[in-house]
Amino acid sequence: MDTYQRIPLKLIQGKGVWVWDEKGKKYLDAVAGIATCSLGHSDRSLRKALSSQLQKIQHVSNLYEIPEQEDLAQWLVKKSCASKVFFCNSGAEANEAAIKLARKYAHIKRNIERPVILCAKSSFHGRTLAALSATGQPKYQKGFEPLIEGFEFFEFNNESSFKELHNLIEINGPRIAAVLIEPLQGEGGIYPGEKIFFKYLRDICTQNNILLIFDEVQTGMGRTGNLWGYEYLNIEPDVFTIAKGLGGGHAIGALLVKESANIFQKGDHASTFGGNPFACKAGITVAKEIERRNLVKNAKERGKQLEHELLKLIKLFPEHLKEIRGLGLIQGLVIKERSTLKSQIVVNQAINEGLLIVPAGEKVIRMVPPLIINERQINTLIKKLRVTLERIL
Ligand SMILES: Cc1ncc(COP(=O)(O)O)c(C=O)c1O
Repeated sequence: MDTYQRIPLKLIQGKGVWVWDEKGKKYLDAVAGIATCSLGHSDRSLRKALSSQLQKIQHVSNLYEIPEQEDLAQWLVKKSCASKVFFCNSGAEANEAAIKLARKYAHIKRNIERPVILCAKSSFHGRTLAALSATGQPKYQKGFEPLIEGFEFFEFNNESSFKELHNLIEINGPRIAAVLIEPLQGEGGIYPGEKIFFKYLRDICTQNNILLIFDEVQTGMGRTGNLWGYEYLNIEPDVFTIAKGLGGGHAIGALLVKESANIFQKGDHASTFGGNPFACKAGITVAKEIERRNLVKNAKERGKQLEHELLKLIKLFPEHLKEIRGLGLIQGLVIKERSTLKSQIVVNQAINEGLLIVPAGEKVIRMVPPLIINERQINTLIKKLRVTLERIL
């Protein structure tokens, strides 16, 4: 179908941070399947693990016990604030599961009949109907009405906007089941959460038995320079969702809950492919490689380098470039509102220079390279971006 605005580029091979098109042209990939290929392309350990998994067994139903799923769940539980995991296949699906869980929690724990979930404006939670209804960007929702009821929106990082909405919704008594929020807004334009605001959210949620749900689909698995985005904010959510970076390019998502929110019972939720041996083998291999190769630390250090170099780039083009926003290896170079420059123009020109980058809205150029990127490759990225901007401006 015509759902994607595709760039006429066929990428047919990859190695590490590099990809090649069908004509043999080489590109530095700072898109990484949009923050997904954590280990880069054609990673040796992933190749080995998945080849041997293919020779063993690829898929069995969740009717049975799945050792690869248990391995991955144990790793996730050991490394996070969660105590239980449900596996699915994508970010949107993980959020759907979180929304179901929040509604059930409100019904059984708090006797709320028609629960409401508070979400942030400019957020992005996916394209399935409930995830879309939770997404605070009308441009994605237009044409798909009626949306699912039970979602209301406040300004991200804005305590008074949250307070106002909270009071309005609860004017006749408790109705709020959960707050669903990204620790750093990705698709919405790379806005890191502010620690004070998130501490406030944590306190309100704790005091009122409201679930605090983090969408870590883009931020999870080391992307921000911490394993989880919530670590940067110095608070823990009750529930969080992950996908993208977890499979290193293979379809897997997960819903993680603390024991207090572990309320799903047998038959409450399910997925045919969720947590299959192949996807979980990908997940556990990525997880162990992130640990073995110290990639969370690398994301932090390379992120700092990237930020530092991007700041220098802003000084070269002060008429057009405004600021850098981001954490670790999710960085956004922000174009000034009054500049005629648009992120898509930069993205298109960068292709000619052998660099893949991706917009996060009209005025933000997003860089989310593989977590394995090294110091020299960051310098190459910057050089290519500088030449790209010089050619346009
Ligand atoms: C924060 C966040 N949540 C959810 C999603 C949806 O994930 P998926 O495309 O795997 O359904 C995305 C995708 O960009 C995302 O960034």
